[in-house]
Amino acid sequence: MDSSRQADCSNGFQELFKSFATDAIHVGQEPEQWNSMAVVPPISLSTTFKQHGPGDHAGFEYSRSGNPTRNCLERAVAALDGAKYCLSFASGLAATMNITHMLKANDGIVCMNDVYGGTNRYFSRVAAEVGLSVSFADCTQLDVLRNALKPNTKLLWIETPTNPMMKVVDIEACSKIAHEYSKDIIVVVDNTFMSSYFQRPLALGADICMYSATKYMNGHSDVVMGLASVNRDDLYERLKYLQNAIGAVPSPFDCYLCNRGLKTLHLRMQQHFRNGMAAARFLEADPRVEKVIFPGLPSHPQHELMKKQCTGCPGMITFYIKGTLEHATAFLRNLKLFSLAESLGGYESLAEHPAIMTHASVPEGDRALLGISDTLIRLSVGLEDEEDIIRDLDYALSKAHPQAK
Ligand SMILES: Cc1ncc(COP(=O)(O)O)c(C=O)c1O
Repeated sequence: MDSSRQADCSNGFQELFKSFATDAIHVGQEPEQWNSMAVVPPISLSTTFKQHGPGDHAGFEYSRSGNPTRNCLERAVAALDGAKYCLSFASGLAATMNITHMLKANDGIVCMNDVYGGTNRYFSRVAAEVGLSVSFADCTQLDVLRNALKPNTKLLWIETPTNPMMKVVDIEACSKIAHEYSKDIIVVVDNTFMSSYFQRPLALGADICMYSATKYMNGHSDVVMGLASVNRDDLYERLKYLQNAIGAVPSPFDCYLCNRGLKTLHLRMQQHFRNGMAAARFLEADPRVEKVIFPGLPSHPQHELMKKQCTGCPGMITFYIKGTLEHATAFLRNLKLFSLAESLGGYESLAEHPAIMTHASVPEGDRALLGISDTLIRLSVGLEDEEDIIRDLDYALSKAHPQAK
């Protein structure tokens, strides 16, 4: 990729975070922390740690409460998020559950109305059943958010860009509205789609930046994990307590893998952006495609906001194929390089049908309101060669629409 195309991609976006690659490679990884001086952090499998005397230990007691490999990962992620602390969990949803456990019965949650289906399901069918009041609001409309906040609201949950409709939420404006309404509202941003490389929610006023690290942060589709970064000491203390008290922690091996994935996060995200942009431009120009939703394109209604709060775009594209469910299915069945599979953010290209796959748990009426129709397709554009990605999309479109072109 020549530098002019790179510049073309990032034009108008925020400047890259300083020393990001250096921090990803070095923070929390100091060889001096190990007697062996290992340059690559060892996988510390021991569940328990010897104490010199009762309560007199070397920083670790029991692996659920703290683990050396986990520590390396959490320190690295904190640095990448521009945060003081990071905590890791057994999955993205385990991170969501731990954050929600900071609330008490009758407290209120306001959640962006277009979020990952599992987040929607957790809030509306699990949290709501144990006495939390949950409402969904379109946080892209700041007045809608203002009206949704209630005296009992304690948590505002934002996802941006949203999954799968790629709506962009103004993190700074929403955090300001929530905090002015009540300083007790914890603003959480699900930063899964962006990774630390493209967006820093804490710097924009959010209190917690969370991830399904299963996606871009690990980036190799071989770990299920969640992360939460914070600056506030009180939130860290409470979440650290819950991480141990609830016990939904990741394994040391998974921590090792995710920590390793971070070492190339900057390179991966740059390539996801380039490939995503190329695929989005190809689809947008194609007559077999109804509409492309990619925040890196000027046609995206919140492209300017994206440029204001992000350093770039990941390889997530949502588009409507022309026709019916039959055409969408034919397209998905005929992809060869893209795998038809759930999840996203790995080095390999994936495609999926949100209405039948990832967002089947969102009630049908809500799906219709959001635009998650039978012809909606979500792509996670991977790191393969650009021309092979385009060729695959073109081939599958030709199978879906044999008469066209
Ligand atoms: C945006 C987003 N948030 C949270 C999650 C849940 O994370 P996990 O699957 O790691 O539990 C996902 C999973 O797809 C997601 O896409």
